[in-house]
Amino acid sequence: MRPLAETCGIYLLGPQHLPRLQEYARDPAIAATTRVPHPFPADGAAAFLAQVEIERAARTGQVFAIEDRGAFVGVVGLHGVRGGGGEIGYWIGRPHWGCGYATFGVTWLLPYCFQNCGLDRVGAHALETNVASLRVLEKLGFVRGEPGPHGQAKWPASVLQVPFTLTAPQWRAQRDAPALALLHPTLRTLLDRELAAGNEVKAAGRGWPDADSVVVTLRERFRAMPSPLPEGVEYDEPNDPHGWRAELRLQVPRQLLVW
Ligand SMILES: CC(C)(COP(=O)(O)OP(=O)(O)OC[C@H]1O[C@@H](n2cnc3c(N)ncnc32)[C@H](O)[C@@H]1OP(=O)(O)O)[C@@H](O)C(=O)NCCC(=O)NCCS
Repeated sequence: MRPLAETCGIYLLGPQHLPRLQEYARDPAIAATTRVPHPFPADGAAAFLAQVEIERAARTGQVFAIEDRGAFVGVVGLHGVRGGGGEIGYWIGRPHWGCGYATFGVTWLLPYCFQNCGLDRVGAHALETNVASLRVLEKLGFVRGEPGPHGQAKWPASVLQVPFTLTAPQWRAQRDAPALALLHPTLRTLLDRELAAGNEVKAAGRGWPDADSVVVTLRERFRAMPSPLPEGVEYDEPNDPHGWRAELRLQVPRQLLVW
């Protein structure tokens, strides 16, 4: 089985997804843990897309279809965007449960929320009995809040709903952690000086040009460059309009702090 990253993607929900969306959303297993109604109306999928288009136009929400090898498997969306926050929701067609699709879809929705929309935080809610959904959110670093009432007539009041939140700094820290863990101690010291001086990591990538290469992009110009520079570190100003203005470069391993 090929990894999902090679075969799977998220695409703006459109009319081409409606037949499968209608088929999967009719399943009572979807309504059992979401606000999707059951019985699902005959025009439910079309009505859902019409609602999504209203949210798109108002810039308060967006829904993506999760596809694997071109086949619709489920949806993931952002709703209720205002004041720097929004709420995510998702469901996967029952034949495709347990394959990692929800994790994949939410993983790819998060850059949309934090980078494209510039949100400060996203929330999510899952019933305390919805173990698979709780697991998806916890795996992706969402922070669990105090369970409370769900306010839905279709579920017993004794079942509580768990709120989750993920902030933009938490998401960035998690995204950058694998690359930062590989940073050579010499550059780590320089990075720590920058952070102590109020600079911030904008992004951190790894694996290019060498397997042990790391490129850490800072949000602002260097604030705490020592003089002289530590042995093995060189300063340069490539001023590349497609890249970065200045870099602190370690030759072995080939790693960079840039802004
Ligand atoms: C909840 C739902 C979205 C999960 O989708 P999915 O694609 O199957 O989820 P994933 O495969 O990405 O991950 C599920 C995780 O839960 C775990 N899991 C699933 N069922 C579980 C159970 N009964 N007990 C413990 N863990 C369970 C899986 O092992 C996996 O964790 P892992 O990667 O650590 O092994 C899907 O079941 C669904 O659509 N349910 C109905 C609608 C819904 O509840 N939507 C969410 C509303 S908050």
